[in-house]
Amino acid sequence: MLSGKRLLLIVSGGIAAYKSLDLVRRLKERGSELRCILTSGGAQFVTPLSLSSLSGEKVYRDLFSLTDESEMGHIRLARDADLIVVAPASADFLAKMAGGLAGDLATAVLLASERPVLVAPAMNAAMWRHAATRRNIALLEEQGVRRVGPEAGDLACGEVGEGRMAEVPDIMAAIEEILVPDTSLSGHRALVTSGPTHEPIDPVRYIANHSSGKQGHAIAGALAGMGAETTLVSGPTSQPDPEGVDVQRVETAAQMLTACQSALPVDVAVCAAAVGDWKVNGAAESKLKKTSGAPPILALSENPDILASLGQAGNLRPALVVGFAAETENVVEQAGAKRKAKGCDWMLANDVSAGTGTFGGDENTVQLINNEGAEDWPTMTKPQVAERLARRIADYFSHAA
Ligand code: PMT
Repeated sequence: MLSGKRLLLIVSGGIAAYKSLDLVRRLKERGSELRCILTSGGAQFVTPLSLSSLSGEKVYRDLFSLTDESEMGHIRLARDADLIVVAPASADFLAKMAGGLAGDLATAVLLASERPVLVAPAMNAAMWRHAATRRNIALLEEQGVRRVGPEAGDLACGEVGEGRMAEVPDIMAAIEEILVPDTSLSGHRALVTSGPTHEPIDPVRYIANHSSGKQGHAIAGALAGMGAETTLVSGPTSQPDPEGVDVQRVETAAQMLTACQSALPVDVAVCAAAVGDWKVNGAAESKLKKTSGAPPILALSENPDILASLGQAGNLRPALVVGFAAETENVVEQAGAKRKAKGCDWMLANDVSAGTGTFGGDENTVQLINNEGAEDWPTMTKPQVAERLARRIADYFSHAA
């Protein structure tokens, strides 16, 4: 159900605009609050009157209309929607979106909006295949724009190929996937580790690493977003607490282990923290002084391995144990060996060599390694990696049930 959800539908130019009338009807049936923008191209195919009769609302058309701006300014149209749907999205309209143009009401609203956007492309097959359209679509998807279709089949121009706008039930399903929360992990408990650890040398100095916590925090947020009761054990980071997550803040690997053990039992554990491998033996209780002239020699000893301890936790072992392997060479081989050595089910290998920007950056390129082999994931933002992992975890439990 979409009741109470606010949608903004942009109808751009294309013969498929006739399907948008049916889309409007279905969205209204599901209880959504719908506003429509009709571009000048779209108005060649459907009339403002048919759209407003079906939506029961005024149809917006003109960026420079004083009446429209005083009733519902374009900035409010942009901000008031839970989702903006562009159906059909013509090749020309997608190019304008990718180029950040804002010359008419529809493109100005999209540029002013931070709300999720779903496009349903519709065009001739050669236009869809054209390098310019491929580039525009890739750019938009990189910016987080979602897409449904196009499909292959008979096209209005008489040709056959990929370019038909997705059917209305498929567009409805894509809308619901975005707007109706997926709670398939409800009833499951999750534990996530994130961030670096700080291993003290003395009260003011410590050994640390460049982990920002972005990846681990995003995973905890994604799992909680899908309904899992989630505990996040985090080393020192400046990341905000993810919504709906029980956050336990720690400093050292030893504290992280204790906090993880207290969170058991859980169904799934994801260890994304960059845990310090070593700690300083007998960290000084007062600040080390430079008085003796010679620099201090730090004796190190190994920290507990949290992932391995979860992977080998006997009857408290989570049903699914997931690790991250930070590697700089032979990434898949090394990560595969770590998966076995630490007794975990899935290992996400990420290349952290200099220049990749994985530590601290906004994107990650991972390979998921399990007992069936290695699966390449495309480069994604860390929240996208988190969402994909959370969905994989939900699939795992739905098949295990
Ligand atoms: O925090 P970000 O800036 O977003 O960066 C994300 C990340 C690069 C830190 C993350 O994606 C990542 O790769 N985390 C694992 C880093 C790491 O410590 O990798 P490792 O290969 O050294 O360890 C393998 C696994 O063992 C990891 O799951 C780690 O959490 C775990 N481990 C390691 C040592 C230890 N003492 N205890 C552990 O649990």
